Amino acid sequence: MKRLAVFGSTGSIGRQTLDVARNFPDWFKVIGLAAGGNLELLEQQVAEFRPELVYSTALERKSPRRTRSSQIQSRFAPMEEIAAHPDVDIVVVATSGKAGLSPCFAALRAGKPVALANKEVLVMAGDLATAEAKHTGASIMPVDSEHSAIWQCLRGEQAEIERLILTASGGPFRGLPAVELAKVTAAEALRHPTWIMGRKVTIDSATLMNKGLEVIEAHWLFSVPYANIQVVIHPESMIHSMIEFVDGSVKAQLSYPDMHLPIQHALSYPDRLPAQYVPRLDFARTARLSFETPDTGRFPCLALAIEAGKKGGTYPAALCAADEVAVGAFLEGRIGFTGIPLLVEAVLGRHSGIKHPSLQEIMEADARAREDAASIIGAEKL
Ligand SMILES: NC(=O)c1ccc[n+]([C@@H]2O[C@H](COP(=O)([O-])OP(=O)(O)OC[C@H]3O[C@@H](n4cnc5c(N)ncnc54)[C@H](OP(=O)(O)O)[C@@H]3O)[C@@H](O)[C@H]2O)c1
Repeated sequence: MKRLAVFGSTGSIGRQTLDVARNFPDWFKVIGLAAGGNLELLEQQVAEFRPELVYSTALERKSPRRTRSSQIQSRFAPMEEIAAHPDVDIVVVATSGKAGLSPCFAALRAGKPVALANKEVLVMAGDLATAEAKHTGASIMPVDSEHSAIWQCLRGEQAEIERLILTASGGPFRGLPAVELAKVTAAEALRHPTWIMGRKVTIDSATLMNKGLEVIEAHWLFSVPYANIQVVIHPESMIHSMIEFVDGSVKAQLSYPDMHLPIQHALSYPDRLPAQYVPRLDFARTARLSFETPDTGRFPCLALAIEAGKKGGTYPAALCAADEVAVGAFLEGRIGFTGIPLLVEAVLGRHSGIKHPSLQEIMEADARAREDAASIIGAEKL
């Protein structure tokens, strides 16, 4: 029995994590749940899983020690306390944006295994997070399907790897000419061809920013230089990523595109549990597996992210912050789809980076980049 804390339990990954816990009651017990403002769903989850500890930004605002929500009888605790609690065996960090940073560090400091979906943690603070994990012996288990695929491919391998090959579906606008991209709406961008995800990551998939963030994530998770990480568009989303060895041999991980699988793998590792609820691949009926090179002319976010990753220091934090503001503004109709990379590029252009930043300096870079992004939106038509 593994005892779980699930942060971001009301989100796309969080809900699927609880599906896995529900499917395997002999394997997993939910000890802690944390969410943002969706109190209604959190209350349903608390009623079902009866966790000891619970956190929500909405409850925090209501000063929870005095005002308990009608349904929530579990003890309110900050996410950092839940992450380090002795009863918790695995911390699932599935919050979005920078909200996962502090609780993830609390878990790593306590030496807990972290099942990490919240890619911003490694993008913003990969150097510090991997150093902390090394220091305490905590493991970081990837939940992102691409990194889970690489993790699975690496299992049992001693040989050096030459290249990581991250696959990308290409998003809903893969074939759209550059002139059409400026006109796409939020509703169109939210219609991802293969994955059902939260809104921010869905827009990031459409701009290919998501793939850029994943390159940075892969760099930190697997200690592979940027020059040895390649992105390839694979619209069928069946191969989740590949590794190439020094002899040119390539190993890939394939499965039906369903996030329950990488989540379940991280939670059950090193075991594998059955997953009858996910369709199997049928190779006889699969017409083809296709690949193409990403077009960074039409989708500049990919190159912007890799560039920020290579510069390192506080640049990736500024990238994340600018992108979060840009995606928010696009969803609200304040900037166009092609305004997203323009805004990110403008913010990175203003950024004066700090090498080897502390967590405090990373948060300050985040705040500065948000301010810069807001003032650029106010001053320019994007
Ligand atoms: N969805 C996917 O398929 C997928 C795949 C790979 C990686 N990821 C990564 O996983 C992370 C989560 O993605 P998602 O798609 O699940 O996002 P999502 O659906 O937007 O869910 C985000 C979760 O975080 C919670 N949250 C937001 N701000 C919070 C705060 N300040 N404190 C505590 N909780 C907070 C939300 O709570 P409320 O809803 O209650 O406000 C919600 O539970 C992202 O970093 C994403 O890039 C997602």
